[in-house]
Parts: sequence; C-alpha cells; structure tokens
Amino acid sequence: MELQRWSFSSSLSTALLLLHLLPAINGEASPAVSGSERPVLRFSGKRGEFKILQIADMHFADGRKTKCLDVLPEEAPNCSDLNTTAFIYRVVKAENPDLIVFTGDNIFGRDATDAAKSVDAAFAPAIALKVPWAAVLGNHDQENPTLNREGLMQHIVGMAYTLSSINPDGLEIDGFGNYNLEVAGVEGSGLANKSVLNLYFLDSGDYSTVSKIRGYGWIKVSQQMWFLNVSSHLQNLYMSKPEPQKEPAPGLVYFHIPLPEFSSLDTLKISGVKQEGISSASVNSGFFTTMLEAGDVKAVFTGHDHINDFCGELHRIHLCYAGGFGYHAYGKAGWPRRARVVSAYLEKTRSGSWGGVQSIKTWKRLDDKNLSTIDTEILGKEEMKLKGDGKQESRQTLRFWLKTISCNLIH
Ligand SMILES: *[C@@H]1O[C@H](CO)[C@@H](O)[C@H](O)[C@H]1NC(C)=O
Ligand SMILES: *[C@@H]1O[C@H](CO)[C@@H](O)[C@H](O)[C@H]1NC(C)=O
Ligand SMILES: *[C@@H]1O[C@H](CO)[C@@H](O)[C@H](O)[C@H]1NC(C)=O
Ligand SMILES: *[C@@H]1O[C@H](CO)[C@@H](O)[C@H](O)[C@H]1NC(C)=O
Ligand SMILES: *[C@@H]1O[C@H](CO)[C@@H](O)[C@H](O)[C@H]1NC(C)=O
Repeated sequence: MELQRWSFSSSLSTALLLLHLLPAINGEASPAVSGSERPVLRFSGKRGEFKILQIADMHFADGRKTKCLDVLPEEAPNCSDLNTTAFIYRVVKAENPDLIVFTGDNIFGRDATDAAKSVDAAFAPAIALKVPWAAVLGNHDQENPTLNREGLMQHIVGMAYTLSSINPDGLEIDGFGNYNLEVAGVEGSGLANKSVLNLYFLDSGDYSTVSKIRGYGWIKVSQQMWFLNVSSHLQNLYMSKPEPQKEPAPGLVYFHIPLPEFSSLDTLKISGVKQEGISSASVNSGFFTTMLEAGDVKAVFTGHDHINDFCGELHRIHLCYAGGFGYHAYGKAGWPRRARVVSAYLEKTRSGSWGGVQSIKTWKRLDDKNLSTIDTEILGKEEMKLKGDGKQESRQTLRFWLKTISCNLIH
C-alpha cells in the first residue's frame, strides 16, 4: 500500500513538473466547499447517498411545434419536444436526484428559432423542480446563428439553480464549459469540509478545426492540463490533514463526445447495448491516458450516440453512455428514450458516522409506462476483487507508474 502511494504521487508530480504545473501541489488543506450563493453539493446525512441524473441529447428546439423523430407511427401525431419535457418531470419525480447533469446537444440549434429560448425551455424543468444542475455543450447546441458556444455557456451560467461555469477563472483553455464540482461529506461528519466525490465537466468540442482532419472535436491538451492540476490539487487536500484519507476521492467525468477508447471495450463484457458505431473524434487526443495518470477517475459519462447506452470497463475506468433522452433526437422507434442515474454511497465509520465513498452504482430509467429501471450495476467491481490481492495490485501499479515516469522523462 505504502509502495503504491509512493509510486503514485511521485509519478504524478513528475508529470506535473514536466507540464510546468508544480505550484498546484501544496499540502495545505482548505475548506472543500466555499460559501457562495450557488447551491452547495453535499451528501445527505439521512441516506449517506448522492444521486446524479444524466440527461443526454435532448435536442430541444421549438417546443410543441417541434416533432418527434423515430417514434412508432401511432405515437407520432401528438409527439413533440414537450414529451422530452414531460420525461424530465417523470424521471426527476421518480428518482429525486441531488444533481442533474446535461451532457450536451441540449438543444438542436439548426431547428431552433431562437437558441436562448430553446435553452430556457430545455432546462426549465430542472429550475421549476429546484434541482441543482450542470450542463456541458455538444456539437449541435451552437448550430443556430443567434448564439455561439461562448454565448450559450454565458446564457446557461446565468440561469437559476445551475452550477455550470464557462471556464476556470484566469485560465486560458480551449472550449467553453470546463469546470469541476465538489460534493462534500455529510454535515457534522469528519469529512464535512472535504470533497468526497469529485465531478469534472469538459467541453469535448464540436467539429475538428484542423484542416485535413475531418469529424468531431476532441479534448485539447490545455483542458487536460487543467484537469490534471485540479485532480492533483483535490487529491492532495483529501489525503492531507485534517482527517487525511488513504486513497483519493473518486472522480466522475462528464462530457459529450465519446473517447476513441469506447471502441476498445470488449462488447461481450459491456452492460447495455451497442446499436450503432462509436462517433468519437478521428484522432486520439490522449484524455483517457491522462485520466489513468491522474488516478482518481472511476467513470466517464458521455452522450452523442443516442442508441448506444452501454457501460464497459477499461483499465479500471468505466466508460458509459447515457442513451438518448430527447424526442427530437434520432433514436429507434419502439426503443424507449432513457436516462442514466449514478448514485454514490458513503461508508459508515467505526464510530457510526459517515465516511468517504464506499461504492458507486448506476442504472438507467426508460420512458416507458413503468418508467422501467434496467442494467443496474456496481462500478468498480474489478477493483474490489483486486483489493483482495494487495500484492498483485502493488506490482501492477508499480510497473504501470514506472512506465509512466520513463515515458514522461523521454518526452
Ligand atoms: C492549478 O491549480 C491551482 C489551485 O487550484 C491554481 O491556483 C492554479 O492557477 C492552477 N494552475 C493551472 C496552470 O491550472
Ligand atoms: C398533444 O395535443 C394537444 C392538443 O393539440 C396539445 O395541447 C398538447 O400539447 C400535445 N402534446 C404534445 C406532447 O405535443
Ligand atoms: C407524448 O405526449 C403525449 C401527450 O402527453 C402522449 O399522449 C404521448 O403518448 C407521448 N408520446 C410518447 C412517444 O411518449
Ligand atoms: C468544518 O468547518 C466548520 C466551519 O469552518 C467548522 O466549524 C467545523 O468544525 C469543520 N469540521 C471539520 C470536521 O473539520
Ligand atoms: C409494466 O409492469 C407490469 C406489471 O408489473 C408488467 O406486466 C408490464 O409488462 C410492464 N410493462 C413494461 C413496458 O415494462
């Protein structure tokens, strides 16, 4: 265990040194959650749980006037964007989430008359239901002449109950909508002032801007450096005094376009379905490897491919789709629109108080008659199995980090 931690932090600092980010590492702990008028995210003391509802690809346009795509012929006549709105109300009522995350293509810019109006209508249920929410952009949000990507994020950030940000203060990084949120431990517990669950949001772009490279955008180096810095900073706070923890708090990452690594999953081992190709960028910008190096990320959640809704595991990071939510988004007639729920549960400490995150579960909710729950699974099962064999884990981890260090030194 000791060995593993040494190899972990030394390689991370090497990586950061080489990225000229060393000032990020300091041992001082400050309150995980600072006071502000925005809602503070915190685990519930009743349930020791924090629940996130992911809504992908609403493709909202002009409300009642915008027709549904890919529904059964008998469903088509009275089906519009308002069905997307109705689904949000239904699923929030059923799940009562602590946070809603909208992972892009929230509006379908091309079919919207006024982007701001569509955005307002798309997120209205979260506001009406008073649920804190966070959003990132997809590749279709800005396809309306009235708002570009920056304008969209500016508009979103000004809305009620949102925790979205455009970008970290004082940093020039690519994209609009790169930020992180901290979820504090239970009020009154030893971890009340620490972030026990870290959420990262990134702008995966829209389309390639490099000539001769076609297709979708990708997460740029500047965004990855920001992510590494935040991750190392949070890990440092979590593992130092007061209440130093042995392992980093788990991280969950949300963005729109799936990474190329989604194609590396063994389709025999995924849960959920793969019914179409994986539309990632045509180049690999390395964000998956960056997350491996950071070491705290447990799962990645994207949208973009509406009729894929699977989760699979690669090098102990879960790669998950939500499945398409919106009725004006392409889909598959007879295959219900859906949403992904993720819930993190805290462990009970010996003294009977709440500690850090013990397990993370995910499932999907379908917009069918019963609002069916499907594909429930625990994230990080493989890890628990490995924990039983500490020796093997240390060896593997050491080999991995030694390789990482030497690679970083070479470049
Ligand atoms: C790294 O994070 C620290 C602490 O959050 C911040 O002060 C600093 O500006 C960040 N630097 C970069 C380059 O992201
Ligand atoms: C269905 O049709 C009625 C009557 O035209 C209309 O008021 C209602 O908004 C429609 N519902 C949806 C979901 O489009
Ligand atoms: C859309 O909403 C209308 C009105 O509430 C409802 O009658 C219809 O069944 C819904 N269509 C789908 C595909 O859910
Ligand atoms: C958390 O911070 C509050 C306010 O600064 C303080 O009163 C409390 O003792 C702290 N709790 C822990 C466990 O550090
Ligand atoms: C809904 O639940 C009922 C009763 O449990 C069941 O008979 C029916 O098949 C379910 N329908 C769907 C669409 O899952």
